[in-house]
Amino acid sequence: MNRVQEIRKERNFTQEQLANFAEISRKYLSNIENQLANPSIDIAFRISNALNVDIDKLFFDVSEVNSVVYPEPLKYIDLFCGIGGFRYASERAYNNLGILGECVFSSDIDKYAQDAYEANFGERPVGDITKVNEKEIPDFDILFAGFPCQSFSICGLLKGFEDKARGTLFFDIARILKEKKPQAFVLENVKNLVGHDRGKTLQTILEILRDELGYHVDFHLLNALDFGLPQKRERVIIVGSKKPFKMNWDFSVEHKKTLNDILEKSVAQKHFASPEIVAKRKSKHVAKTFPSIWHENKSGNISSYPYSCALRAGASYNYLLVNGERRLTPREMLRLQGFPDQFKIIVSDCQTRKQAGNAIPVDMVAMVIERFLPMAF
Ligand SMILES: C[S@@+](CC[C@H](N)C(=O)[O-])C[C@H]1O[C@@H](n2cnc3c(N)ncnc32)[C@H](O)[C@@H]1O
Repeated sequence: MNRVQEIRKERNFTQEQLANFAEISRKYLSNIENQLANPSIDIAFRISNALNVDIDKLFFDVSEVNSVVYPEPLKYIDLFCGIGGFRYASERAYNNLGILGECVFSSDIDKYAQDAYEANFGERPVGDITKVNEKEIPDFDILFAGFPCQSFSICGLLKGFEDKARGTLFFDIARILKEKKPQAFVLENVKNLVGHDRGKTLQTILEILRDELGYHVDFHLLNALDFGLPQKRERVIIVGSKKPFKMNWDFSVEHKKTLNDILEKSVAQKHFASPEIVAKRKSKHVAKTFPSIWHENKSGNISSYPYSCALRAGASYNYLLVNGERRLTPREMLRLQGFPDQFKIIVSDCQTRKQAGNAIPVDMVAMVIERFLPMAF
């Protein structure tokens, strides 16, 4: 329990002002005020300094303040890194929590993803992770991996994780965790993982993480739409720590981006569909909102929404049309995934579309990491 909100109001500070003084995000301050997050001792001191009040007047029981001391720097590895969605998300969370982060290893097999990652983060990811000896990976504190949604062939009847997971890319995550024993991890996968093989695949993954590798683990299905991004994208997030923790998966986001925040004002002609396609779509459908993203399903039915359906690595180019007229530009697709405009596009439109379709929603994962880290360390 704490009196941060009460004392902030007595001092006539807005949340924005106090967050700025304490050098944390307004959202994180709001979580602290609503007793949803325990600040580290360092942040608790920054808040009490900003409010000019003794720390023990602010936090009823200072021993309740999370006395977490993060490793400095907090080292992480970025597996199946793609174009760095986890990297952006974790750096945002570190920044908000006042942690210094350092990426010590990244890996992606795709040459164009490596090119894009190198251009944006200054280091070239190592290739095929199945060929990497886990003993040669530098020590690290937290592992991030949005592992590919390849068809799973995890067999629940076999004994150890080596038997169960071999041949899947989850096996590579598991063998790295087993060897390096980091404090924590955050994994991401498609919604279908939850129901795959009537839940047995996810069950096996959780069993391996808990029983074979000794982590406390929790998971949840989250939707990027609930995190302020105008994209309906449901993903399973699995978090684990050596420390027991209780994750609160309810997130409330006040500022939601709309399509108007995402769509470019001036769009090259090459992105427009042919007059025939536009006429055909418009003869079949009238949108109720503007702007909207039109979605054509496999049977040719068209619907439109004030948000995008999930971007996909292969197909979104053809089945999603802005206002029934044009494709999303690569920049718009990146924005739909929460990538900042500073992200340099250095590969072809086709490759960028694939990369954006593969990526994680940065805003969503950043909020998960920001809430999880103080419990995990
Ligand atoms: C779902 S995407 C992850 C995207 C990433 N989270 C992002 O935000 O951009 C999976 C990635 O795994 C990579 N991948 C697939 N097999 C791999 C392997 N054997 N070794 C390393 N990377 C691999 C793919 O190239 C792809 O970029």
